[in-house]
Amino acid sequence: MSKTVLVTGGAGFIGGNFVRLLLNETDYAVVNVDALTYAGNLISLQDIEDHPRYTFVHGNICDEAVIQNVLNEYAPSSIVNFAAETHVDRSIQGADEFLQTNVLGVQALLKPVIAGNIERFVQVSTDEVYGSLGPEGRFTETTPLDPGNPYSASKAAADFLVRAAVNTYGIDACITRCSNNYGPFQFPEKLIPLMIHRASHGKTLPVYGDGQQVRDWIHVEDHCRAVLAVLERGKKGEVYNIGAENEIQNIEVVRTILTALDKPDSLIEFVKDRPGHDRRYAMDNTKISRELGWHPTVSFAQGMQATIDWYSNNAEWIQSIISKEYIRYFERQYGTASGT
Ligand code: NAD
Ligand code: DAU
Repeated sequence: MSKTVLVTGGAGFIGGNFVRLLLNETDYAVVNVDALTYAGNLISLQDIEDHPRYTFVHGNICDEAVIQNVLNEYAPSSIVNFAAETHVDRSIQGADEFLQTNVLGVQALLKPVIAGNIERFVQVSTDEVYGSLGPEGRFTETTPLDPGNPYSASKAAADFLVRAAVNTYGIDACITRCSNNYGPFQFPEKLIPLMIHRASHGKTLPVYGDGQQVRDWIHVEDHCRAVLAVLERGKKGEVYNIGAENEIQNIEVVRTILTALDKPDSLIEFVKDRPGHDRRYAMDNTKISRELGWHPTVSFAQGMQATIDWYSNNAEWIQSIISKEYIRYFERQYGTASGT
């Protein structure tokens, strides 16, 4: 009988792509526990919702009873935790929910692992826990954690909790730290889907500050395959950086989108910078490549074109997830003048 993986946050962007990968390319059964916050959408999982190896449970990772029921009913052998509050700008507006889910939620998930009821725990973390880089160098797994905003501080706290549980209780856990993802089903508050959506409608594109901040972009499928490699072959207690060596300035990403959609540069609007904005991220992925044999397969050019095509062909997906809450967030973040 195939093993069962408990995937948390599987109705979100990366978790959903991971659930699809497990169902389409492995034998695992999948139980997806998701609280369906503004960022979680079952519409994104319509193609696999009736899959015989898939179960959805509407629940919060902070709720120990929900997790215990899942353990009792489905006996998963591992947990891969994607559930999180993930948007930096929202964490700057208010961080309470970030601490609740990203810290206390992880603490709640660790309890059954510590109790010996789960063979392996994978905590999906982020390159942001390392803070901001100057013009040179890359983050390695030994770079000291130096988070620069409430979101990344909450993710770093979770990393420390996992590390402490490995050290104290000897649990089998790994941490993955990936760079910026792009691809299908990403919530349109994040740079790439936001800019594609707005450019397609001829709306202005709000670029923070001078637009010369650098992010290291990876296609979500490459990230998911890396997490699967860690789940199956990662060494107990280890951290794995994941990145695809695609360092690009924000302004260049935005211009790529405008060119692909045949829209003018005049749509770009430089707006007030994000407070505490990290200048540059860049990942060294030597460890995961050497030790687990994982390598990125999607080039930025190819992945971006496919992504732009996906959003253009799935405009109804964005329309279906744009809620009143999104419009209120957008107005708080960008001012009413920008509109959605
Ligand atoms: P997302 O915001 O698209 O999805 C998050 C999901 O978690 C949603 O489905 C939401 O409903 C669910 N969720 C939130 N709080 C929950 C709770 N308390 N209980 C259960 N479910 C809850 O996020 P994403 O971009 O897919 O990111 C997934 C993970 O990957 C996060 O842990 C994030 O920190 C990490 N990560 C993201 C990126 C990126 O570029 N997006 C890069 C590196 C790491
Ligand atoms: O690096 C990994 C992280 O990437 C993940 O851990 C986070 O969950 C994910 O949200 C992402 O964080 P960023 O802050 O880097 O992503 P975001 O898409 O919000 O912004 C990317 C860059 O674009 C950043 O430098 C800010 C800038 N930006 C963003 C938005 C939304 C703009 O210039 N204008 C915008 O409107």
